[in-house]
Amino acid sequence: MTPLFALLFDSLDERLRLRAPGRKVVNKVFPEHWAFLLGEVALFSFVVLVLTGVFLTMFYTPSVDPVTYTGENPLYRGQVLPGAFESIVRLSSDVDGGLLFRRIHRGASHLFVASIVLHMLRVILTGAFRRPREINYHLGIVLLLLSFASGFTGQSLPYDLLAGTGIRIAYTELLSTPFIGDRLAFWVFGGDFPGTDVIPRFFTFHVLALPGLIVAVMTLHLVIVARQTHTQFPSARVDGHRQVLGKPLWPSQFHVSTTLVLWLGGVLTLAAVLVPWSDEALVAPYLVGDITNQAQPEWFMFWLEGALRIFPPVEFSLLGMTVSGPFVAGALFPALIIALLVAYPTIEKRFYGLRGDWHVLQNPLEIPLRAAFASGFFGFLLLMAAAATNDILSRLTSVPIEAITWFFRIASLVLPPAVAVLLYRYSSARLRRAGLRVARVENTADRA
Ligand code: HEM
Repeated sequence: MTPLFALLFDSLDERLRLRAPGRKVVNKVFPEHWAFLLGEVALFSFVVLVLTGVFLTMFYTPSVDPVTYTGENPLYRGQVLPGAFESIVRLSSDVDGGLLFRRIHRGASHLFVASIVLHMLRVILTGAFRRPREINYHLGIVLLLLSFASGFTGQSLPYDLLAGTGIRIAYTELLSTPFIGDRLAFWVFGGDFPGTDVIPRFFTFHVLALPGLIVAVMTLHLVIVARQTHTQFPSARVDGHRQVLGKPLWPSQFHVSTTLVLWLGGVLTLAAVLVPWSDEALVAPYLVGDITNQAQPEWFMFWLEGALRIFPPVEFSLLGMTVSGPFVAGALFPALIIALLVAYPTIEKRFYGLRGDWHVLQNPLEIPLRAAFASGFFGFLLLMAAAATNDILSRLTSVPIEAITWFFRIASLVLPPAVAVLLYRYSSARLRRAGLRVARVENTADRA
């Protein structure tokens, strides 16, 4: 510690008695493997989102009431625009640093979701979700859903053509709910589509409710990580079931995390200078009746968009209610996907009859069920995501869009189960060759 820092610390310690708990925190051990940094990337991206979001909120108008734009942008000068869109044009063209902040915010939102998805993949593939970390796994799924909701509400706020198309799809989805669809849509939108309430409501959720919930759940998630300690990749140097080997928070991990923050800030700023993330000049304001034939949601919603595009336009009666294609593809399908994600740790535990706590990570090929689940489940979602580009594929290849849609319908039913079965067999044979069985994987009591 530098003398100045030590002096400050001593003076605080005299008043707040920091030394004992402080030493515990400073000596907390962090694993060395880079894969453990993905959670930190998500955390730091969220901090960037909040900081840049505060700046944007000072200039954004959460309203669709018409306003005449009088600023410098020659594309829109003198035009009457929805208030939200006008404020985004003003922010981008007339406020110093506005465009830079908008782009950093966009870039950070992509990084936030991408790092959460990769972090989740690491957790699933390596089995970090097993007892005692199931609670954190489930809190993680809540964080994933909250990040999707933040992305969707954020993408809607500029009220441009893409935002309007997304909001219209959300309205149609609500309408398709059996029995209560029209009342639900009316309640959420405060009237018929699009109405004037949806933007102020999405704004409140985007800047207040969702970040508040994310902070609360994230804090709990991190407190649990600290309490349970991290898992360990297998190592000859240490018995990972009983001990944690890694860098202490001070100074080693502190240096790693600071370097990560600086890189993240640098990359996001550079990307903001180079990449025009959805600048308002590229898309027009949303006016009811206008649709764009190039509407593409954010990448992390592709799987849902793909399901909506390829699900057959059916309508049938079930237990006295009318069930439509959009309801099955847009509500039942994602509910099933989330339910599978939630249930997987229990399924694996029951399948292998596992008991006790697990702290050492695994190669997914050592657990045939997990290899099958991960490849089939994520393979299916990737195919769904690819199906969201059926119009682009059709334009590029000149194959009729109906043929491409049928390809995705058949491929999504056949390929993921085939890959899952193949990987199950391959990893089972691998285990047999090594003379191992999953039930024999070590299983221990609490860590020292
Ligand atoms: C806002 C989103 C999230 C943030 C900021 C976050 C942050 C973190 C951090 C910093 C760690 C410790 C380092 C590491 O293990 O990578 C961690 C661990 C963990 N996270 Fe997350 N996480 C998020 C979402 C998720 C999701 C979506 C899941 C799974 C569905 C998840 C499940 C877990 C589990 C099980 C651990 C303990 C892993 C271990 O010790 O190996 N988290 N998280």
